[in-house]
Amino acid sequence: MTINTAHYWMPFTANRQFKARPRMMKSASGMYYTAEDGRQILDGTAGLWCVNAGHGHPKITDAVVRQAQTMDFAPPFQMGHAGAFDAASRLAATSPDGLNRVFFCNSGSEAVDTALKMALAYHRLRGDTLRTRLIGRERGYHGVGFGGIAVGGIAGNRKHFGPSMAGVDHLRHPLDVTRNALSRGLPEHGAEIADEFEQRLLALHDPATVAALIIEPVQGSTGVIIPPKGYLQKLRTICDKYGILLIFDEVITGFGRLGTAFAADYFGIIPDMICCAKGLTNAMVPMGAVIAKQSIHETFMDAAPENAIEFYHGYTYSGHPLACAAATAALDVYHSENLFARAASMAPAFETAAHSLRGLPYVKDIRNLGLVCGIELEPMPGKPAARAYDVFERCFWEEQVLIRTTGDIIALSPPLIINEEQIGQLFDAVGRCLRTMTT
Ligand SMILES: Cc1ncc(COP(=O)(O)O)c(C=O)c1O
Repeated sequence: MTINTAHYWMPFTANRQFKARPRMMKSASGMYYTAEDGRQILDGTAGLWCVNAGHGHPKITDAVVRQAQTMDFAPPFQMGHAGAFDAASRLAATSPDGLNRVFFCNSGSEAVDTALKMALAYHRLRGDTLRTRLIGRERGYHGVGFGGIAVGGIAGNRKHFGPSMAGVDHLRHPLDVTRNALSRGLPEHGAEIADEFEQRLLALHDPATVAALIIEPVQGSTGVIIPPKGYLQKLRTICDKYGILLIFDEVITGFGRLGTAFAADYFGIIPDMICCAKGLTNAMVPMGAVIAKQSIHETFMDAAPENAIEFYHGYTYSGHPLACAAATAALDVYHSENLFARAASMAPAFETAAHSLRGLPYVKDIRNLGLVCGIELEPMPGKPAARAYDVFERCFWEEQVLIRTTGDIIALSPPLIINEEQIGQLFDAVGRCLRTMTT
């Protein structure tokens, strides 16, 4: 079959490079894709950190098909349908204590922008009108909305869009390969980097002007940056001390990636809001959500007159019936199949396999937690990102394994249903590519 590739402007893709030799998927089931040329490809990335229960889960598929046949759409403004309320209740029941009010949107980017707007409006409704500053982190990824790129810390995502990004600042990220290389689990060194939030940023800006700190508990997209022991606890303490909201962007870490429902559960830290998406529906239908503390929701409810809209925000597809059906079914599957606990139980084998690559050519660091790992490579001289891309291409064409790379870091985050044999296949494939690399 010949596919006309001219018209589709691909997202976050080197379009010309891709179209010169397209990597096309045709179907997917469980742990595997089938490529357009018929080859089975082991999914080492859960699609894009999102198909946590594996591809095409029949219970989620059935729920979506049933919903499509019953009601395609209902307006979400001033109207409701049971599916949205059920999905919200189910999500609240999966969330950490106290986070039980759910605002639906369609993506991680929208969840982030929704949470940032909620934070700003919350302080204003309380009369704390000076609090307009938002703090993110270097190398943070919070999607591609203007709010998300403002608090995000990826230069390439920001540089063309500058003027709309005033009023934010960024913490230093805690990756420290010199001190923590080849750590298993949480790194030992670097908790003190969290102190800079208070000692540098808050000292500079005045804590009374800061509305919220948004961070990914584990930074995913910029190469799996795992927080050092005690670091996140310090950030929670500083936020509490100064009345700053703490937002966890759990678009990647949500729904079992660390072996618990959320990273908040893994670290025993309760943020004020959680942004989630991706695994929320097992990626079958796009959906995002902000899960807020009840007290935040109450502030909105108490501030507005009874007949007034309390939060001027929403999307045509907030609580879309198909997305809600997928979310409820996905949450049922996660719980009934114990997938979060399964991820925790596979994590030691995953860690052992990841660190078996230690000492291979070009391996500079390996870091892992739960079912996520980053393998950082020495770049090719003068050609940043080329080495990891080469491994990515060879994994796909020669090893029949899908991995993900960012710069010269390989990120692996398979579906939570992966077994030991498949873990072996995944890391063996990467290992072979590294061993046979010639430049
Ligand atoms: C932490 C984080 N936040 C936000 C997003 C954006 O999500 P989306 O691509 O669904 O807009 C991502 C996407 O990878 C993410 O990893």
